[in-house]
Amino acid sequence: MKVLFLDQSGKPGGAELCLLDIVKPFANTSLVGLFADGDFRKLLEINHIPVEVLTTQAIKVSKESGLFSAFASLGQIVPLIYQVVKIARKYDLIYANTQKALVVGSLASFISGVPLVYHLHDILSLEHFSKTNLRVAITLINKFASLVIANSQASKTAFIQAGGKADITHVVYNGFAPENYQVDEIEVIKIREALEINDQFVVGHFSRLSPWKGQHILIDALGRCPENVTVILVGDALFGEDEYVKQLHQQVKSLGLENRVKFLGFRDDIPELMSVCNLVAHTSIAPEPFGRVIVEAMLCAKPVVAAKAGGAVELVEDGINGFLVTPNNCQELAQVINNCIDGKVNISEIANHARMNASHRFNVDFINYKIQDLLKSVVFKN
Ligand code: UDP
Ligand code: GLC
Repeated sequence: MKVLFLDQSGKPGGAELCLLDIVKPFANTSLVGLFADGDFRKLLEINHIPVEVLTTQAIKVSKESGLFSAFASLGQIVPLIYQVVKIARKYDLIYANTQKALVVGSLASFISGVPLVYHLHDILSLEHFSKTNLRVAITLINKFASLVIANSQASKTAFIQAGGKADITHVVYNGFAPENYQVDEIEVIKIREALEINDQFVVGHFSRLSPWKGQHILIDALGRCPENVTVILVGDALFGEDEYVKQLHQQVKSLGLENRVKFLGFRDDIPELMSVCNLVAHTSIAPEPFGRVIVEAMLCAKPVVAAKAGGAVELVEDGINGFLVTPNNCQELAQVINNCIDGKVNISEIANHARMNASHRFNVDFINYKIQDLLKSVVFKN
């Protein structure tokens, strides 16, 4: 099967890291077309996946954009659509992995007659998108997509509530290779020494720095925890959230937590860094569509506390394979951290159970098999 994958981002966010695993079995016959250059292109190349940067001109529409900027961007995307049409004619499928890829992929599919698949990584609700954006996305999907792969039941439900077609939509979770999350104990000791956190109870947060990811909630919670608790914030502002980064640094300063919060920036050694943590926190204040970091913490056999909304609720059973807290509530989060420190909960039992369960449930081979089956059903129907 020859698939033309499309993604708007040059940066490796969660949707791109998910795509990387999906593309691997198609490496010999497929192409990834990007609408921006960056580290994601490099990551694909390292993994021997054919990739082409189709444009380096930024498409100026954001999740919050209205009708005017949508129209204004048409001039930019028409040449891109024609380029995609030309390439797509050599492929069996167009696989759009992001919203701008959906816009370009829909029209290219219409012109070329090559069927379109859309991987929905978002919760299509007004909490995340403007009304115009929602309307455009739902209309294009309903009109042009033969198949929608939703990254969680929560994403699927929001899509249907917003008017999306239920009969073409299937939930497939992100896949992971469990062996990538086994880290040598010597490595853990080395990192703990390098970060000077040897005697600390370490709470890790692994996410791009962005207001809806809620790093500020964890910092507030830290102010309610004992002195021996340190937070590591792993991730950077990927999509221009520099003002939020400034605010986080100010918040740390005003709470006098400079020695207990470490900003580590964007890293590519996530399993190693998760392995040095005593607890991993997920704190999104808007519903998380899926939440790769939650599963990754489980695979590292680390207890995870997640904000109870969206896809996170499908991943975590409170008190069984992790903990759930009310989103945007630093008191509850602090309570869970303190319970873990005091030994009021058996965290190693919970974490081991989570690892075993996640290794099967999110196994990349099984997930890829499901996706290939769905794609075949589209190609052979056409
Ligand atoms: N991640 C990373 N380096 C960082 C921070 C995060 O590689 O410094 C990875 C993280 O391990 C996860 C992904 O980025 O696989 C984020 O995906 P998630 O679904 O949690 O959130 P998203 O950012 O896609 O909304
Ligand atoms: C998006 C979502 C995130 C999800 C990822 C992979 O980036 O924000 O929740 O885990 O896609 O599907």
